[in-house]
Amino acid sequence: MSKEKILIIGANGQLGAELTRALRQIHGQENVIATDLHLPHDGYNYLPFEILDATDASKMSFLAERYRITQIYHLAAVFTNKGEVNPLKTWEINMNCLFNVMEVARVQKVKRVFFPSSIAVFGSNTPRIMTPQDTIRTPETVYGMSKVAGENWCSYYHNRYGTDVRSLRYPGVVDYQGQSRGSTADYALEMYHKAVKGEVFECFLNENTRLPFLFIDDAVRATLDLMDAPEKNIAIRSSYNVTGFSATPAELADSIRRVLPDFKMQYNPDERQKMADSWPESIDDMQAFKDWGWRPKYDLDKMTDKMIATLQKKYAPTL
Ligand SMILES: NC(=O)c1ccc[n+]([C@@H]2O[C@H](COP(=O)([O-])OP(=O)(O)OC[C@H]3O[C@@H](n4cnc5c(N)ncnc54)[C@H](O)[C@@H]3O)[C@@H](O)[C@H]2O)c1
Repeated sequence: MSKEKILIIGANGQLGAELTRALRQIHGQENVIATDLHLPHDGYNYLPFEILDATDASKMSFLAERYRITQIYHLAAVFTNKGEVNPLKTWEINMNCLFNVMEVARVQKVKRVFFPSSIAVFGSNTPRIMTPQDTIRTPETVYGMSKVAGENWCSYYHNRYGTDVRSLRYPGVVDYQGQSRGSTADYALEMYHKAVKGEVFECFLNENTRLPFLFIDDAVRATLDLMDAPEKNIAIRSSYNVTGFSATPAELADSIRRVLPDFKMQYNPDERQKMADSWPESIDDMQAFKDWGWRPKYDLDKMTDKMIATLQKKYAPTL
């Protein structure tokens, strides 16, 4: 029987849903408590589930105590583009959620915490090719600012209180759900859905915008491997660079056309182009390899094959 009791905050999201599924397979359904602002679509199949707004410190503390939580995965955040609509509110939500998690961890001596950071911590003056682990982090969005501050607070809690908090800087994560979360890399997941449905895709970035990506299966594996690694191996207490591969919209389209030759797309760059232009093209994740053995399993074509096969099954009744 698993000794862990895991609290997932933001469990209905892209990463939360997959991590909840994976952690329940490892630790048992009853030992992984999913929480989010609303009930999940698949309702009670998802139990144990609790409604939790992560800005509510007392409810978070109550749930952690009630379930005797040993690990917290804190996935709730307001994303890049949505975040720019109301910058002060975004800062308040992203920071307060993290402070509540770190305080619950400190006070209740939670064994381990996961905080997801993002390549949005980098800005236009960061080296964009093979962006190093340790480099300039002066982002241009409030989302990126909240992730830089979050990384620093993770280091602080580790150094000051010994909190075993671990973090990854995810690049754009591509998965099967295809729901826009307000991330600039969302174009990639929308492209696969349109391709499988036989629709023309309109891309909001220009054809040569190179960005780093991570397929969802690799993102889940990276997270679980990091959280499983021996404490002495974790040299980085801000956040680890991780990546799968880098690609442009044109390269994604070519990869899709190997399987679906009739796929058509057009380019109509909007204001998100400027944001993407400030992000890294590729990421140096050697430190993650050295410390806990990180290696991606999916390159662009392998991801394309799995995305298309999965989405063809999903859309089969409607095609
Ligand atoms: N998916 C990516 O490409 C990516 C890339 C870099 C970083 N990240 C980070 O990973 C984390 C998870 O990303 P995701 O793609 O699963 O996001 P998502 O938007 O799909 O899911 C976030 C979930 O958090 C919930 N949430 C929002 N505010 C909340 C609050 N106040 N209290 C409780 N729950 C709340 C939402 O309802 C949602 O279900 C985020 O912190 C994000 O910044 C993701």
